[in-house]
Amino acid sequence: MKKEILLKYNEITDFNKLSELEQKLMQKAMESAKSAYAPYSKFNVGAALVLENNQIIIGSNQENASFPAGICAERVALFSSHANYPKEIIKQIAITAITQNFELSAPVGPCGICRQVLLEYEEKQGSDIEILLFDNKKIIKLAKTKDLLPFYFNEDRLKQQ
Ligand code: THU
Repeated sequence: MKKEILLKYNEITDFNKLSELEQKLMQKAMESAKSAYAPYSKFNVGAALVLENNQIIIGSNQENASFPAGICAERVALFSSHANYPKEIIKQIAITAITQNFELSAPVGPCGICRQVLLEYEEKQGSDIEILLFDNKKIIKLAKTKDLLPFYFNEDRLKQQ
């Protein structure tokens, strides 16, 4: 039997269509990307998430001469958020990237590990985390992390069904 998965998302080119908070979140993600520590890949990523209490938490990728020791921007923001505000709901995360070597042609999506980490918090808090992937021309708005991760793995799989 053939089955299909349908993904619905918004593509926005008019930045004024976003709320003030979304624009602020994107501004913070962009600022964060500028201060990423990415001397090896020269690929700067910035993330900014907003909590239910309207607190904004930022993250940028942090690299290391021992390459696998580095960590993505999204996880820096998510882990920092959950370490400091473990009970707060994460409402939305904005993600952007700038390369030091060339211009990116489209918004960048989070890597697989970061999708999994987003999913963990989405499941834990029991409410969706909206995702804004953006560059200077376009915003891709997704309603929830699960949209980025079909056939996802979660804690239920660790238990006998
Ligand atoms: N990177 C992120 O920060 N987030 C992603 O979702 C994709 C990749 C970082 C990791 C590494 O420092 C650089 O981008 C190149 O892969």
